[in-house]
Amino acid sequence: MLPSVITYDLDRCLTPSLGLRHRSSRNAMTQFNTTQPDTGFASHLAATAAETDALLGRLLSAEPAQSETARPARLLAAMRHSALAGGKRLRPFLVTETAALFGVPRHQALMTGAALECVHCYSLVHDDLPAMDDDDLRRGQPTVHKAFDEATAILAGDSLLTLAFDLLARPDTHPSAEVRVRLVGELAQASGIGGMAGGQMLDLAAEGRFGDPPAGTEASILTLQSMKTGALIRFGCRAGAILAQAPDADRDALDRYGAAIGQAFQIADDLLDVEGDAATVGKATGKDAASGKATLVGLLGIEGARARLAKLIDTADAALAGFGKDAAMLRSASRFIAERRT
Ligand code: IPE
Ligand code: IPE
Ligand code: MG
Ligand code: MG
Ligand code: MG
Repeated sequence: MLPSVITYDLDRCLTPSLGLRHRSSRNAMTQFNTTQPDTGFASHLAATAAETDALLGRLLSAEPAQSETARPARLLAAMRHSALAGGKRLRPFLVTETAALFGVPRHQALMTGAALECVHCYSLVHDDLPAMDDDDLRRGQPTVHKAFDEATAILAGDSLLTLAFDLLARPDTHPSAEVRVRLVGELAQASGIGGMAGGQMLDLAAEGRFGDPPAGTEASILTLQSMKTGALIRFGCRAGAILAQAPDADRDALDRYGAAIGQAFQIADDLLDVEGDAATVGKATGKDAASGKATLVGLLGIEGARARLAKLIDTADAALAGFGKDAAMLRSASRFIAERRT
């Protein structure tokens, strides 16, 4: 029996030697600006993760939704394996925190965050397939195709992706149809050929999967990462402003914040592949160089990548300047993203 609510131990996510714990690092290059007030970030993220887990648990219950016919048990179990297996729930957190800047009702933000998390989970299920990164471990558990089989994993991914748009189209996500259509359109574009899926294609091409790989320049790596990882994170940051029907300038500021932390997120992921261990990270490590992945860590080296992370935190802070103290939690989120160890 799969548990419907799983809480995530956020202490495990924090790098013990860097920023959030305000300990000093020996190398000045690796120090981030930590002069931020204590926002209670870890407990806040944990609370949002628990709310998201509970909501996804309900949305993935055995009971068919209104116009569905039936929910095949094996497919539902595979979807739940993917969507309720822990995970930091950082993308839903970005939605709830950007929405909170404008006083958006929490349920609207949680539904939008759950939709985004469904797309993220689908992307992981397919990313782990033998035809893609061929991974056996995800969030400390067998990947969906290992726990079930490849056909079920493909269909679980398909069903999580489409559930996302079902959720965004529901009137309890937002009373305005115009807002819902905007959310659907933006999440679709962030997920598809010009976003996550397109970025995954460029990622595989850069490995040389389809013939000689294109030159792995900094610009080409930034483009592929902004698509495969950045697009969904940016959507999460824009979503709060979309739900609030906020002025374009606010949405654009959150977009700049999202672009910076999206880039930081993949650099941190690529650093974890080099420096982390599977027991802590919850997925295989040491694979990117072996498979010829194009990463900024490979291009700039570890210290170069860390220096880039520090710059990206500054860029993210600058984007948030207009929100003043209200954005303290988002400033903590940037630091968490750069310093995470899972
Ligand atoms: C991992 O994302 C995949 C990337 C985009 C690098 P996360 O690190 O957010 O994974 P979970 O959801 O916490 O497991
Ligand atoms: C995956 O990037 C980004 C996705 C769109 C899923 P990675 O392949 O580096 O993610 P991990 O390391 O498997 O989580
Ligand atoms: Mg991949
Ligand atoms: Mg992968
Ligand atoms: Mg990775």
